[in-house]
Parts: sequence; structure tokens; C-alpha cells
Amino acid sequence: MEREGLTRREYLQWAGVGATALAASAVGASCGGVKQERAITEKPAEPSPAEVANRARRMKWWHEAKFGMFVHWGLYSVLGRHEWAMEVEGIPVAEYEQLAKRFKPQPNAARAWAKLAKQAGMKYMVMTSKHHEGFCLFDTKLTDYCAPQQAAGRDLVKEYFEAARGEGLRAGLYYSLMDWHHPDGARCLTDEAARRRFVDYIHGHVREICSNYGKLDVLWYDVNWPLDVKGWESEKMNKMVFELEPDTIVNNRNGLPGDFSTPEQHIEAEKEGRAWETCMTMNDSWGYHQADDNWKTPKAILRNLARCAGGGGNYLLNIGPKPDGSIPDESVRILTAVGQWMAKYGATIYESERSKVTSSLFAEFTRAGNTLYMHVHYWPGSTVALGGLRTKVLNARLLTTSQKVDFKQEEFRVQFTGLPEKAPDNLATVIEIECDGEPVQDEEWVRKERPRRGVGISA
Ligand code: GLC
Repeated sequence: MEREGLTRREYLQWAGVGATALAASAVGASCGGVKQERAITEKPAEPSPAEVANRARRMKWWHEAKFGMFVHWGLYSVLGRHEWAMEVEGIPVAEYEQLAKRFKPQPNAARAWAKLAKQAGMKYMVMTSKHHEGFCLFDTKLTDYCAPQQAAGRDLVKEYFEAARGEGLRAGLYYSLMDWHHPDGARCLTDEAARRRFVDYIHGHVREICSNYGKLDVLWYDVNWPLDVKGWESEKMNKMVFELEPDTIVNNRNGLPGDFSTPEQHIEAEKEGRAWETCMTMNDSWGYHQADDNWKTPKAILRNLARCAGGGGNYLLNIGPKPDGSIPDESVRILTAVGQWMAKYGATIYESERSKVTSSLFAEFTRAGNTLYMHVHYWPGSTVALGGLRTKVLNARLLTTSQKVDFKQEEFRVQFTGLPEKAPDNLATVIEIECDGEPVQDEEWVRKERPRRGVGISA
């Protein structure tokens, strides 16, 4: 299908399939003590103006959304000890398959996820439709190793979409290319007939999830082991996706650049113009892990969210529901606290753009036009200082009370004074700082230019 006003070449570029074939392979990276396979994606090719415009159109809602819920759910939830258990513990496939008999979630468990996501201020969700274990939560004609044909007896992806849409949230699907269950999942690397069968299977799934559930807002590929872009036929894959779902957005984990990058468990802003989304767990596991108690605090989560927004990126935060679909209590507690804060101060996140002020020992920054939002997570007391600001401050306000804040601006420092001794908002207190231009910070300038003195101490 060709899009109106676009040449075929532009269409293909827009669809993310015009890039030169990229070398993609998998490397082991350590994450929470588990060796993870990660796609390597080469630098994106320079996009054409038509591609830029089309991508901006497709991604508008996503850029505004800032905060999403990732959901990892599958047979590994029954085991309750991380979604990589099958491989890391070397569980035989025939033994692992038996879990499908025990995976019988409560009906419509996804409704509680969607409600919680909404309360937390999240605007979209992404759920695993098939993780590396190979078990499909969706109805498929290509295998009976799927929820509707096993004990669950229902299409869990359908329930998920209904739940997300019921709460007015955008909904996407995660889909793992790597498959530990499919007979051709490893030998496809050396056996062409196996590769053909396996790639047809994977493309067939992608076709199903793009065709059977109405609008798919995000397609979130994962781990492209063991093939490269050519082997996976990733360009053909994305082309099919965009023919079926012209408005969707895709990530970079099928080896092609796609629409956005996916830093995992860390925050790393992409260069200006390239979209990115940090995905992160709330403890150390994506799938439900009964004994993993290394929970992040609501403060840490809000800090990460502000840092992502300030870097022009999104934050996709994970829950790992239990096998019955219920959400671990800690996740509910954390997201509820996050939501209470977001209900008051969410505008400083949603309506923000990339900030050129980034450095503080106790705050993160977002920006809306010429206004800087200083999110102070470690409150220093009645004076809050910011170094290296090269823009003139016009006004400052404490968002908690809306009260005006006095300030003193020197060449290398601005100090906000007369503030409460104790943090007005324990999770993050926001100072709204209106400037006479886009706020810019230059730390190097402070280091080089701040006047120095002699070697002694002056009287
Ligand atoms: C990694 C892991 C996987 C998790 C994903 C989320 O690729 O293999 O378990 O689903 O990251 O980003």
C-alpha cells in the first residue's frame, strides 16, 4: 500500500525499510546477573524529510505520553523466578511445556493493570505477546502452544487490548524474535530450510498480532538472536507491519533502526532528533519473581521519569504480574505513590521538552519553552542553588503552594532563597523557574571561567 503523497521510495523509507541492510548480531550483556541477548543496531540512515514528517505524525502521541507500563507475563510467571529461568536453569522443553497446564489466570486480569497504569499517570501499555519461552498469549493458527489452546483457554492479548482501551490508554505489544521452544529456533542459523520455516513462523505471528486486534499502537520487538537483519528478513517484516498498521511505531530490536531506541535498565538520551525510551524493571526481574525484593522507591522512579523527560525520552516501567494476573503488592504500592505525585505535578513531565540544564547533585530538570522545572529529590534546605545557568531568571515559584520564590542571580550561580527547611514534597519538590530565553547550563564555563585567586587564602 502506498501512502498518499509519498513516492514508493519515500514510503519505504518512512516505513523504516529503506535503510541499508544493517549488520546485526547478538551479544551477551549482563543484567541483574543474567546474561541477556541484545540486538546491535547500526546508526540510523539519514531520514528523508517525508520520513521525518511522517514519523513525527505517528509519534506525536508517544512523545506526549512520556510514561508507559511494560507488562511481562507468561509461563515464567508460574515459576516465579525470572523470565529467563527456562534457559538459565537449563529446563528441558518437555518439562517447561507442562507449565501451560498450570497457567490459568483470572478473567480480565488486565483491567487492574490498566487501572493502575492510568492512576500512575501512564499513558500507554506494552505487553509481552510472546517472550523468549515461545508461549503465545494470543490466538494463533501457527501453534497450539498458546493461551487459547492451553489451560488458560482464552485470548489474553484480546483481554489486554480491551482493558487498555477501556481506560483510554494506548496499547502496544512486545514480541520476542528469539524463541527457545520452536524446533528451528536455533538451527535456523546453519540450516536454510529451518531458517525458512522459522522466519515464516515469526513473520506469520507478526502478521497475526498486527491484524487481529484492531489498532496496534506500538510493536516492540525483542532479541534477534540468532539471525541477522538479512536472515530475519527484517526489512520485509517492517514493510508488512506498516502495510497492516500505517500509524504504528516500531522499536529497533529487529536489527533495523525503527522509530526509537531502547536503552534497557539505564537512562541514556539519544542525540537530538532520535526518539528513545528507557525500559526498566521495578525490582531486578521483568517476569514475576517471588523472591526478588530489590524494589526501587517511588522517589527513584520519579527521578528516572523526570530524567527521561528532560532528555526528550520516554520511560517504560515494568510490572510482572503473578500467574493469576494479580499485580505484586509492592508494585501497586509504588505506582500508587507515583500516581499521587503525578496527579499534582504531571504537567511538568507531559508538557516538557528536552532540557539543556541537566546538572545538579540533588535535582532533575524538565523544560517547557523558557520555563525550567527543577525537580528536587534531595531537598537541601532553605536555599537551593543551581550553577552554570547562562539564562536570566525572571521569576520563580514553588509548585507545592504556588508561592513566589526569591532568588539571587550571580554570574555563575543562582540561589533560590527563603524556602522551607524541610522538603515540601518528599518525593520531588518542583521549583518552576521562568527565564528570558531557553534555559541553558554550561558547567565547563564555570570550571574554566569562574575567577580564581592566588595560592593563599585571602584575608
Ligand atoms: C531483554 C530480556 C528480556 C526482557 C527485555 C525487556 O532483552 O531478554 O527478558 O524482556 O529485555 O527490555
